[in-house]
Amino acid sequence: MPNPKSYQEINQNLNNYYSNKEMSIWRNNFHIEMPFGLINDPNGLSYYDNKFHIFYQWNPFGCEHKTKHWGLVTTTNFINFTKPQMALKPQDWFDRNGCYSGCGLVKDNELKLYYTGNVKGPNGERESYQCLAIYRKDGIIEKHGVIIDKQPNGYTAHFRDPYVFIEDDTYYMILGVQSEDLKGRALIYESIDSVKWNLLGELKTDMKDFGYMWECPNIIRISKGKHAFIFSPQGLEKEELKNQNLYQSGYVIGELDIESVELKNHSRFKELDMGFDFYAPQIFKHNGENIMIGWIGMPDRDSEYPTYEHGWMYSLTMPRVLEYKNNVLYQKPINEMRNLRENELINIKGLILNNYNLALESRSVEIMISIEVEDIESTEVKFKFNDEYILITYDNKRQLCTVDRSNMNIGGKGIRKFKLNSSKELKMNVFIDNSVMEIYYQDGLEVTTLTYYPKSEGLELQIRNDSKITINELNMWNLRSVKYE
Ligand code: FRU
Repeated sequence: MPNPKSYQEINQNLNNYYSNKEMSIWRNNFHIEMPFGLINDPNGLSYYDNKFHIFYQWNPFGCEHKTKHWGLVTTTNFINFTKPQMALKPQDWFDRNGCYSGCGLVKDNELKLYYTGNVKGPNGERESYQCLAIYRKDGIIEKHGVIIDKQPNGYTAHFRDPYVFIEDDTYYMILGVQSEDLKGRALIYESIDSVKWNLLGELKTDMKDFGYMWECPNIIRISKGKHAFIFSPQGLEKEELKNQNLYQSGYVIGELDIESVELKNHSRFKELDMGFDFYAPQIFKHNGENIMIGWIGMPDRDSEYPTYEHGWMYSLTMPRVLEYKNNVLYQKPINEMRNLRENELINIKGLILNNYNLALESRSVEIMISIEVEDIESTEVKFKFNDEYILITYDNKRQLCTVDRSNMNIGGKGIRKFKLNSSKELKMNVFIDNSVMEIYYQDGLEVTTLTYYPKSEGLELQIRNDSKITINELNMWNLRSVKYE
């Protein structure tokens, strides 16, 4: 499909795509992605008018990081979605080079959308405006223009990604920013009416020298007196078991003292996802749960994603519920994901063996596996695509998990390693889609998201061990495709 050149062509292409859907082997079945163009950060996540609203960054005109719009899909069940539609277009003086990331706030029967207007001058100099648009139930979106005019003194124009949260009936907005000495920081604004905003100050943390920019900040309450500050810092040093991607997304947990604009006694930064392709997550609250969606991709790494040749790039993660337990955030796919299960392929309990092999025709499956690892040194789980494969190795002695993508021919490669505690069992819940895998370990204590681009269809699962092991449980389901109607 050639790139659309006008909004009329976008609509035509959308209709064509969904009426004669041709599937290519890398098109995903249950991860949100666009028929054409580039999708990145999830934006404006909210439950409004009895529907989940998922907005996102979308360049509908091509696979470059430019002309960022807000696209929108809505759903009640995460299986049936509305077709993508255009929500915000970069057409005004304050957002003419991009309607950048932001959030949603349901108030007075309206959905308020806060976003960053990105403006580039003739010599590439940047201006950032925080803007408001109102989305109503009839689907009409009205832009209300600039609510915060440029960054305050002491900061560069890297000033973006508003996220609104409420404490004691007052609205607060947190923004990612870069200080003039090129350090990542976050600013907090306050508002009584959610329209006029006053700067409270910079969020004080112990992270004085922690990268050169903090993108996509979120502040969420996770228990009484405890908040998580979740953000995407850029410029952290690589370590053997940490920060192995170009940019990170993670969190610290502490006590938010809004009067002194401080996150007190906070924990050390912990990455949310130890895989290869995860960035810029956003969280929204629904029925008391904190639900997170992330972007499956990485800025400044476009050449690792071969689908640009097919005119589309990137996807969003499944929605994940965040649960605060043992001082960390556990992640689990929201319950609605169970509705994707079509038929059960395998249901085994208490199997004792060295090796296990299974060939599958489809790459749209969920696997739940629990292996007894107490008495063994290491175990390997391999996802094979003819002569290519992805290998997960668990070293029980060192309590170390390795995800190895270096035996794939196309797309990003490499190895990711992380600490993973297990006392008796190694538990994995694996969601395999045609070119994306999300693997949840130990009930969501760690997650690895990755893209992979095999040359062949189908998949073979192999489990190998250095001695006999017990597979306590192995379940597998075919997963259906979500629908856009
Ligand atoms: C993160 C990000 C945001 C920005 C948006 C632009 O991926 O760089 O900081 O608002 O993407 O698309």
